[in-house]
Amino acid sequence: MDQELIAAATAARAFAHAPYSRFAVGAALASKSGKIYSGCNVENVSLGLTICAERSAVASAIAQGGKDFAVIAVVTAAKTPAVPCGACCQVLAEFNPQMKVIAATIDGQVHEFNLAELLPFPSTGILEALRNV
Ligand code: THU
Repeated sequence: MDQELIAAATAARAFAHAPYSRFAVGAALASKSGKIYSGCNVENVSLGLTICAERSAVASAIAQGGKDFAVIAVVTAAKTPAVPCGACCQVLAEFNPQMKVIAATIDGQVHEFNLAELLPFPSTGILEALRNV
Protein backbone atom coordinates (compact mmCIF):
# COMPACT_ATOMS: atom_id res chain seq x y z
CA MET A 1 0.00 0.00 0.00
CA ASP A 2 2.75 2.48 0.93
CA GLN A 3 4.53 1.91 -2.38
CA GLU A 4 1.28 2.31 -4.30
CA LEU A 5 0.59 5.59 -2.50
CA ILE A 6 4.13 6.86 -3.12
CA ALA A 7 3.71 5.98 -6.81
CA ALA A 8 0.42 7.93 -6.95
CA ALA A 9 2.06 10.96 -5.29
CA THR A 10 4.99 10.74 -7.69
CA ALA A 11 2.61 10.66 -10.66
CA ALA A 12 0.65 13.66 -9.34
CA ARG A 13 3.89 15.58 -8.82
CA ALA A 14 4.36 15.65 -12.59
CA PHE A 15 1.32 17.96 -12.81
CA ALA A 16 2.60 20.50 -10.27
CA HIS A 17 2.22 24.14 -11.28
CA ALA A 18 5.37 25.53 -9.68
CA PRO A 19 6.89 28.13 -12.03
CA TYR A 20 8.02 30.41 -9.16
CA SER A 21 9.72 28.02 -6.75
CA ARG A 22 10.41 25.23 -9.28
CA PHE A 23 9.76 22.90 -6.32
CA ALA A 24 7.22 20.34 -7.48
CA VAL A 25 5.34 18.42 -4.81
CA GLY A 26 2.98 15.47 -5.22
CA ALA A 27 0.66 14.07 -2.56
CA ALA A 28 -1.66 11.08 -2.39
CA LEU A 29 -4.21 10.39 0.32
CA ALA A 30 -5.64 6.94 1.00
CA SER A 31 -8.98 6.43 2.66
CA LYS A 32 -9.46 3.58 5.14
CA SER A 33 -11.22 1.66 2.35
CA GLY A 34 -8.12 2.01 0.17
CA LYS A 35 -9.34 4.62 -2.31
CA ILE A 36 -6.58 7.01 -3.43
CA TYR A 37 -6.88 10.75 -4.08
CA SER A 38 -3.93 12.75 -5.34
CA GLY A 39 -2.89 16.38 -5.58
CA CYS A 40 0.01 18.64 -6.50
CA ASN A 41 1.08 22.14 -5.55
CA VAL A 42 -0.57 24.97 -7.46
CA GLU A 43 1.42 28.21 -7.27
CA ASN A 44 0.16 31.70 -7.99
CA VAL A 45 1.93 34.89 -8.99
CA SER A 46 0.76 36.42 -5.71
CA LEU A 47 2.78 33.60 -4.02
CA GLY A 48 0.57 33.73 -0.92
CA LEU A 49 -2.32 32.14 -2.80
CA THR A 50 -0.27 29.04 -3.50
CA ILE A 51 -1.96 25.75 -2.62
CA CYS A 52 0.26 22.98 -1.28
CA ALA A 53 0.02 19.48 -2.73
CA GLU A 54 -1.40 18.06 0.50
CA ARG A 55 -4.31 20.53 0.61
CA SER A 56 -4.86 20.02 -3.11
CA ALA A 57 -5.25 16.26 -2.42
CA VAL A 58 -7.68 16.95 0.43
CA ALA A 59 -9.81 19.24 -1.75
CA SER A 60 -9.86 16.67 -4.53
CA ALA A 61 -10.84 13.88 -2.13
CA ILE A 62 -13.62 15.84 -0.45
CA ALA A 63 -14.99 16.96 -3.83
CA GLN A 64 -15.25 13.27 -4.79
CA GLY A 65 -17.01 12.27 -1.57
CA GLY A 66 -13.87 10.85 0.07
CA LYS A 67 -13.52 10.73 3.86
CA ASP A 68 -11.85 8.64 6.58
CA PHE A 69 -8.30 9.32 5.45
CA ALA A 70 -5.76 6.89 6.87
CA VAL A 71 -2.47 7.74 5.14
CA ILE A 72 -0.89 10.52 3.08
CA ALA A 73 2.27 10.23 1.00
CA VAL A 74 4.21 13.34 -0.04
CA VAL A 75 6.91 13.20 -2.69
CA THR A 76 9.50 15.84 -3.54
CA ALA A 77 12.94 16.08 -5.12
CA ALA A 78 14.43 17.56 -1.95
CA LYS A 79 17.68 16.12 -0.56
CA THR A 80 15.77 14.55 2.34
CA PRO A 81 12.05 13.73 2.67
CA ALA A 82 9.90 16.84 3.25
CA VAL A 83 7.12 16.75 5.82
CA PRO A 84 3.86 18.67 5.27
CA CYS A 85 3.95 22.33 6.33
CA GLY A 86 2.13 23.48 9.46
CA ALA A 87 -0.91 24.70 7.55
CA CYS A 88 -1.25 21.35 5.78
CA CYS A 89 -0.84 19.44 9.04
CA GLN A 90 -3.74 21.43 10.49
CA VAL A 91 -5.92 20.69 7.46
CA LEU A 92 -5.03 16.98 7.58
CA ALA A 93 -5.75 16.85 11.33
CA GLU A 94 -9.30 18.02 10.63
CA PHE A 95 -9.92 14.56 9.16
CA ASN A 96 -7.59 12.33 11.18
CA PRO A 97 -5.18 13.74 13.78
CA GLN A 98 -3.45 10.33 13.89
CA MET A 99 -2.99 10.01 10.12
CA LYS A 100 0.10 8.14 8.93
CA VAL A 101 2.39 10.52 7.02
CA ILE A 102 4.87 9.11 4.52
CA ALA A 103 7.46 11.61 3.29
CA ALA A 104 9.48 10.38 0.32
CA THR A 105 11.98 11.65 -2.21
CA ILE A 106 12.09 10.79 -5.88
CA ASP A 107 15.34 8.92 -5.25
CA GLY A 108 13.69 6.52 -2.83
CA GLN A 109 14.28 7.86 0.68
CA VAL A 110 11.23 7.32 2.87
CA HIS A 111 10.49 8.71 6.34
CA GLU A 112 7.34 7.81 8.22
CA PHE A 113 5.54 9.82 10.88
CA ASN A 114 2.26 9.95 12.72
CA LEU A 115 0.54 13.30 12.17
CA ALA A 116 0.29 13.65 15.97
CA GLU A 117 4.11 13.88 16.08
CA LEU A 118 4.09 16.76 13.60
CA LEU A 119 1.08 18.56 15.11
CA PRO A 120 0.51 17.31 18.64
CA PHE A 121 -2.24 19.75 19.69
CA PRO A 122 -4.42 20.27 16.60
CA SER A 123 -7.57 21.43 18.37
CA THR A 124 -6.73 22.98 21.69
CA GLY A 125 -7.66 26.52 22.69
CA ILE A 126 -9.64 28.62 20.25
CA LEU A 127 -10.01 25.78 17.73
CA GLU A 128 -11.60 23.50 20.32
CA ALA A 129 -13.96 26.32 21.30
CA LEU A 130 -14.99 26.77 17.67
CA ARG A 131 -15.73 23.07 17.29
CA ASN A 132 -18.17 23.26 20.19
CA VAL A 133 -20.33 26.16 18.95
N1 THU B 1 4.73 22.94 -0.73
C1 THU B 1 3.86 21.89 -0.73
O1 THU B 1 3.20 21.60 -1.75
N2 THU B 1 3.72 21.17 0.42
C2 THU B 1 4.36 21.44 1.60
O2 THU B 1 4.14 20.77 2.61
C3 THU B 1 5.32 22.55 1.65
C4 THU B 1 5.52 23.32 0.41
C5 THU B 1 4.88 23.73 -1.96
C6 THU B 1 4.40 25.14 -1.86
C7 THU B 1 5.21 25.82 -2.94
O3 THU B 1 4.58 25.67 -4.18
C8 THU B 1 6.52 25.04 -2.96
O4 THU B 1 6.24 23.81 -2.30
C9 THU B 1 7.69 25.73 -2.29
O5 THU B 1 7.37 26.07 -0.99
